[in-house]
Order: sequence, then structure tokens, then C-alpha cells
Amino acid sequence: MTSIWWEVRNLYLNAKRVFLLILVAALSGCGKPSSYSSPEIEAASRQLVPQDTDIAAIYSRSCSSCHTVAATGAPLTGDGSAWGPRMGKGMDGMVASVISGFGGMPPFGLCMDCDAQQFEALIQFMATPAEAP
Ligand code: HEC
Repeated sequence: MTSIWWEVRNLYLNAKRVFLLILVAALSGCGKPSSYSSPEIEAASRQLVPQDTDIAAIYSRSCSSCHTVAATGAPLTGDGSAWGPRMGKGMDGMVASVISGFGGMPPFGLCMDCDAQQFEALIQFMATPAEAP
């Protein structure tokens, strides 16, 4: 006997399939910013950790969630070609960008208790080109 429950189950499975299709379409649709950086640069950015332990803690808590994910549109850690033109503003300009927020970056880069010196160290670290593997 094909019960009503069988029909319901099929409907449910179809709905799940449609949902997955939409998800895949949505994910590939927002791939635009990630075309700025290759998956290799993204993978490399995730290997980098600041030497100073305090700075490393702030980095992993506040900055790395965006600056190692190409889809956020953030310049990736160690990606010299992404940081080069930005650094043209000078360190003070860069720190000012973080404090006031910039484009997709929220004010203070989500580190509300960071001071300018810490931002400087974080920027210095992220903007330093990673050594070629
Ligand atoms: C929620 C995501 C997010 C977080 C968290 C974040 N950033 Fe960013 N950051 C971005 C994005 C996106 C950009 C590029 C914005 C643009 O160019 O429109 C950016 C750009 C920058 C820039 C370049 C600004 C400029 O003037 O070109 C600096 C410097 C920077 N981030 C530093 C930091 C630091 C330091 C932290 C941690 C304290 C941090 N960010 C945390 C998303 C983030």
C-alpha cells in the first residue's frame, strides 16, 4: 500500500534536493570576491600566525575570520599583491581605516579594546608577503 506517508516522504526528499540546489547556486553566485585571490593564497593565509603571542591571540580572535577567507573580500594575510596598493595610504591611514571601519570591515575590525599600536602590528603582520613555498 502506498500510504500518504510515502507521498509526504517523497515530497520532503524533493524539497531537500531543491534546497540543496538553491544553496549551491547561492554559494557559487557569491563567488565574485573570491576570484580576486586564488585558493592557494587563501590556503596559505591560514597557515600564518603572528610571532608575538598577544598579537596572535587578537589576530585569531578578531581578524583571521575575514582576512583568511577570500569570499569576505578582505585582503588575505600574506597576499602581498592585495596589500601593496592599500599600504600606499601609509600605516596611519590603514590604522584609521580599521578604527572607523572600511567597506565590509566593521569598526575596529571587531577588536573593541585594541589600541593603535596593536592594530599596527596586526596590519604589519597581515601585509607582509608570505614567502613563496
Ligand atoms: C568582518 C570581517 C572583517 C574583520 C573581522 C576584519 N576585517 Fe579587515 N577588512 C575586511 C574587508 C572586507 C576589507 C576590505 C574592505 C574594502 O576594501 O572594501 C578589510 C580591509 C582591511 C584593511 C585595509 C583597509 C584599507 O584602507 O584598505 C586593514 C588594514 C584591515 N582590514 C585590518 C584589519 C584588522 C587589523 C583586523 C582585526 C583587528 C580586521 N581587519 C578584521 C574585513 C574584516
